[in-house]
Amino acid sequence: PSVPGKDGRRILIATPRGYCAGVDRAVDAVEKALELYGAPVYVRKEIVHNKYVVETLSRRGAIFVSETEEVPEGARVVFSAHGVSPAVHAEAAARSLQTIDATCPLVTKVHKQAVRFAKDDYDILLIGHTGHEEVEGTQGEAPEHIQVVNGPEEVDGIEVRDPEKVVWISQTTLSVDETLKTVRRLRERFPNLVDPPSDDICYATQNRQGAVKAMAPECDAVIVVGSANSSNSVRLVEVALEAGAGKAYRVDRAEEVRDEWLEGVQTVGLTSGASVPEILVRDVVERLAEIGFTQVDPVQTASEDIRFSLPKNLRADLKATG
Ligand code: F3S
Repeated sequence: PSVPGKDGRRILIATPRGYCAGVDRAVDAVEKALELYGAPVYVRKEIVHNKYVVETLSRRGAIFVSETEEVPEGARVVFSAHGVSPAVHAEAAARSLQTIDATCPLVTKVHKQAVRFAKDDYDILLIGHTGHEEVEGTQGEAPEHIQVVNGPEEVDGIEVRDPEKVVWISQTTLSVDETLKTVRRLRERFPNLVDPPSDDICYATQNRQGAVKAMAPECDAVIVVGSANSSNSVRLVEVALEAGAGKAYRVDRAEEVRDEWLEGVQTVGLTSGASVPEILVRDVVERLAEIGFTQVDPVQTASEDIRFSLPKNLRADLKATG
């Protein structure tokens, strides 16, 4: 039971929030690789889109690079949770790199859909953000067949070979409602548009948005902990505003929370993106307590128990060394 805050100021804290199964596995893969093989372990791109995680792993001996060619011949490299295109696997093989693929299994699922629809010669519309690593990886599975659609406003400009043979797929970390808008527009243009066989927006993205939606109408302000390049974190800010929060802000860490954001605020909502360690949320709770938000009430809309096992070759090496 929480202690009521001064002047009734309270925090609503969203559950689920923070680490998803794919992030947990990817971070664990780098940590285990460091323990098992020793530093340095190269990591292509940010293992997950979180500043704190990348800084912490760097201190422990991970070297983050943006391209495979920066990794010395024969060295060990981890591919990030966002996935890579077949071209990147080929580059790694050409440089004799020892790869540990930490691609989230739910991203791999989308890659497989792309490959299958390309094989059946569909025009594939990939709803997602141009330039995001996950989108680059998925598109790389079938560049001739896939075009990226950033949102409803791009639908009119799309050209396909055969309007009867079009399918949509998506990035895993989009806003559920925005994506549905885009799909509706697409279906107006292509009435026979085919849906993907299962949801591409992952369970973690959906659950975190669900919790924010539930608490937002009661919140004068919502604070989302997450990095600027984290797609799902940025979506949480948008979802909070859309669902009726008075204001919404994203911070990387507690020190970024400004006093003026909370002037006149009675109820503040708090959540975090799928790549955010809980310690960063606890720091924000402490920071808020200092300015009178001492009551903390959870808003739980789902529970999660999904876990993914470590990449296969890493698992085998761990087993071999006992
Ligand atoms: Fe995977 Fe979804 Fe997390 S795609 S990495 S479970 S946000």
